[in-house]
Amino acid sequence: MRFDILTLFPAIFPGYLGESLLEKGIRRRLVEVHVHDLRNWSRDKHHKVDDRPFGGGPGMVLRVEPVVEGVEEIRGRTRDPGRLILLTPQGKRFDQRYVRELATSNRLILVCGRYEGFDQRIIDILKPEELSIGDFVLNGGEVAAMVVIDAVIRLIPGVLGDATSSIDDSFSREEDWIEFPQYTRPRTYRDHGVPDVLLNGNHEEIAEWRRAHAARRTERLREAE
Ligand code: ADE
Repeated sequence: MRFDILTLFPAIFPGYLGESLLEKGIRRRLVEVHVHDLRNWSRDKHHKVDDRPFGGGPGMVLRVEPVVEGVEEIRGRTRDPGRLILLTPQGKRFDQRYVRELATSNRLILVCGRYEGFDQRIIDILKPEELSIGDFVLNGGEVAAMVVIDAVIRLIPGVLGDATSSIDDSFSREEDWIEFPQYTRPRTYRDHGVPDVLLNGNHEEIAEWRRAHAARRTERLREAE
């Protein structure tokens, strides 16, 4: 799967890309990530990509030309135009269902905003999907883009070491599923033991215990909402 990220802060990404599952996916050639600096498409000699809003007001707005032209050029680099996604707090809320849908794609192009937002014509011309990772405002879309990549690559076959380990993830079975509690060694820590049922080797009983506890956790979480 190929990701293209358009950002004003490409230096944010290498540390994240070089670690853990993502690094493994890249090494195994299951995942490709290309980070592009939006300033490459600036027409300004100072490489500016933002400007003051027409009509006045605080902050700066991302200009239309670098984003439209950057996206068009990058889209044209492979035969598959991919899905174009703008990271913005005004977007459709990201959840595990959305993750599953994106994971069926071979290419995602993620555009990260900064400043007070995007010139509306970026949206009118490119008609991207607009995606929000939650009802709060980040300083830019970079962290949100990492969230999208992180969640999606878990579902690419071969990225997780154990092929079954995303099956039990919270939200994976049904929208409402929170994963059951897990334990590992030591068996006792500061008087806190491990439930006996997990140590008895009876797989049916263990499965039943896990189902019951997942249901209890799910209920509690929904009550708290
Ligand atoms: N950019 C700023 N806030 C955001 C959010 N909540 N989700 C996605 N992109 C964003």
